[in-house]
Amino acid sequence: MSAYEPQLKLLAIASGKGGVGKTNVSVNLAVALARLSRRVMLFDADLGLANADLLLGVRPQRTLYDLVSGEVDDLGSILVEGPDGILLVPAISGVASMANMSTTEHAGLIRAFSSYREPLDVLIVDTAAGVQGSVTSFCKAVQDVLVVVCDEPASMADAYALIKVLHQDHGLRRFRLVCNMMVNAEAGRRVAQNLATVLTQYLPDVVVELSGIIPLDEHLRRAVQKRVPVVNLYPASASARAFAELARRVDGWKTARSNHGGLGFFVERLLAHA
Ligand SMILES: Nc1ncnc2c1ncn2[C@@H]1O[C@H](COP(=O)(O)OP(=O)(O)OP(=O)(O)O)[C@@H](O)[C@H]1O
Ligand SMILES: [Mg+2]
Repeated sequence: MSAYEPQLKLLAIASGKGGVGKTNVSVNLAVALARLSRRVMLFDADLGLANADLLLGVRPQRTLYDLVSGEVDDLGSILVEGPDGILLVPAISGVASMANMSTTEHAGLIRAFSSYREPLDVLIVDTAAGVQGSVTSFCKAVQDVLVVVCDEPASMADAYALIKVLHQDHGLRRFRLVCNMMVNAEAGRRVAQNLATVLTQYLPDVVVELSGIIPLDEHLRRAVQKRVPVVNLYPASASARAFAELARRVDGWKTARSNHGGLGFFVERLLAHA
């Protein structure tokens, strides 16, 4: 175990509803943390519509599948370097889910992650929409789950449904909320308050903390089209500034003791739940 591993922060970005901005939050938070001199790895865990590579403007030559299948045996050879030195673990393709993997494949994956020796401060997992098995597995394997919501009844309902499943079926209690595509800060606080009110009534043990309000921003849309994270392309834009603020906040979160042990433990825990 390297001396750096005990500091590793593990975050999952989830939402329930699709298209609310998970991948943009993942990518821009990753780059914004890298700009705070943190060494960041971004794990594209969207098994269906993987697109973190598109938003980063990189082209992975290999994916996690090459590790699982034994084509390569070290994590380093599938990683792709993105803006500001962030490291992308390209989405697994070719296997339907982590749960379908054989014991040998599990062992290979754990070995590859455990033997990764480069120092790392943060791992961000960009999950798929919905509450299928892989999403709950990733959320259970990390320390902080950031739930992305936007100001629409369907997004709020799906965020609630996700939190309910993660709490009732998997024992998670604490969630961080990121309100995305907000017309102003007031709307963000209202969305968070509405969700908190419902949670207090139906899931009183759950604690939700508003961690970020990202404005609806045309710059972000343009950045997506140009395949450059908005924090790099338009650093002075409202959304870029909001991502930078979110990164500073995330950077201040304590690393839970239970997560000491680094990448190898993360994957071990992930597969134990799969
Ligand atoms: N803050 C924002 N301002 C303006 N547009 C936004 C913002 N956030 C996201 N979008 C738009 O929403 C689209 C979907 O965002 P993104 O791909 O990050 O969502 P997602 O939750 O990862 O989707 P999926 O569920 O398919 O993985 C973006 O391509 C962009 O056009
Ligand atoms: Mg996505």
